[in-house]
Amino acid sequence: MSTFLVTGGAGFIGGNFLHIMTKKHPEDRYVCLDALTYAGNMETLEPIMGLSNFRFVKGDIRDREIVYKLFEEEKFDYVINFAAESHVDRSIVNPTIFLETNIIGTSVLMDACRKYGIKRYHQVSTDEVYGDLPIDRPDLFFTETTPLHTSSPYSASKASADLLVLAYHRTFNLPCTISRCSNNYGPYQFPEKLIPLMIQKALRNEKLPVYGDGKNVRDWLYVGDHCEGIDLIVRNGRDGEIYNIGGHNERSNLEVVTTILNALGKDDSLIEHVKDRAGHDRRYAIDPTKIETELGWKPTYNFDTGIKTTIEWNLQNQEWLSHVESGEYQNWMKKHYGE
Ligand code: NAD
Ligand code: DAU
Repeated sequence: MSTFLVTGGAGFIGGNFLHIMTKKHPEDRYVCLDALTYAGNMETLEPIMGLSNFRFVKGDIRDREIVYKLFEEEKFDYVINFAAESHVDRSIVNPTIFLETNIIGTSVLMDACRKYGIKRYHQVSTDEVYGDLPIDRPDLFFTETTPLHTSSPYSASKASADLLVLAYHRTFNLPCTISRCSNNYGPYQFPEKLIPLMIQKALRNEKLPVYGDGKNVRDWLYVGDHCEGIDLIVRNGRDGEIYNIGGHNERSNLEVVTTILNALGKDDSLIEHVKDRAGHDRRYAIDPTKIETELGWKPTYNFDTGIKTTIEWNLQNQEWLSHVESGEYQNWMKKHYGE
């Protein structure tokens, strides 16, 4: 039996990870530490709140006192850091909180790991640390040795955190791994990100705002496949190693939006080209050879099956989405636990 600290578990990917892993590994205990920022949603964790191998703690990864106290109490074997400010557009408006959470928060967690001892610290990173690839070179992919070349304050903060993790490994022998995944989609994604945002807008016959020419390419991975990759790395990966995660599902933004419109029986005339994102990365594409050959990872969804499942989930979970859109989800703690 092992005890896992999962930070940022009330968010999109961390929440999916906890849903899957609390059931897949009932012998293990999962403790979620989450500050419940605008992106943290207790309604996402509602289905697992009653499980005996799950505990939720509200707290900030930058808060050394809370983090150290939790480590003392729980004696973690593994730490998986999902907690982050994750939205590129918000990082363009206000970079500071990205530096504080994504860099300082990571260092506080790793200091706790050094102080109390752990089997492994895992950093959930992103393919955005590699910058972007040209659209007219489909032969090029990000590998684990592609140089870091960031574009946004978000990706710069994630790359800084990665460098810090590698430094703690080399200087302090902290046992650690890093995963760099491509764009995720699936259940419980906050509707500020492309896919859930466009589904919601299409359902209401509102205009779908596509940045620039819409030809920017992302490499889409169904969230459950990302979570399985992280579980494999944490349990079987090699210390000090970086693993890219991606399933070769490149689509332009226009292709993604058109797929959504077609699936919902809506007209392409809803597409509206708007001002481009500053510093907008052109193309992401992952070479997943290392995780496939070393750890036997394989995605179970391709874009066609994943987007179908995701659209269905969004259609069936309009209550979850409407609580996010209205801000009602932020009252969950008060409603369920009182002040
Ligand atoms: P998200 O924004 O949906 O969730 C982030 C969670 O972290 C929220 O629950 C939030 O409350 C929590 N959080 C934020 N600041 C915190 C703090 N200071 N202390 C404690 N908790 C805090 O993000 P996501 O999309 O689920 O991404 C999770 C991780 O995966 C991030 O590290 C992100 O960089 C990485 N990632 C995301 C994608 C993607 O496509 N979404 C792809 C690759 C990697
Ligand atoms: O690649 C991994 C990254 O993917 C993660 O590290 C980030 O946390 C995650 O947010 C995501 O970043 P992107 O910027 O690629 O995702 P986003 O959903 O914001 O945008 C996807 C593409 O769609 C991007 O090219 C910008 C475009 N877009 C986005 C929005 C919100 C639009 O054209 N219109 C929009 O309204």
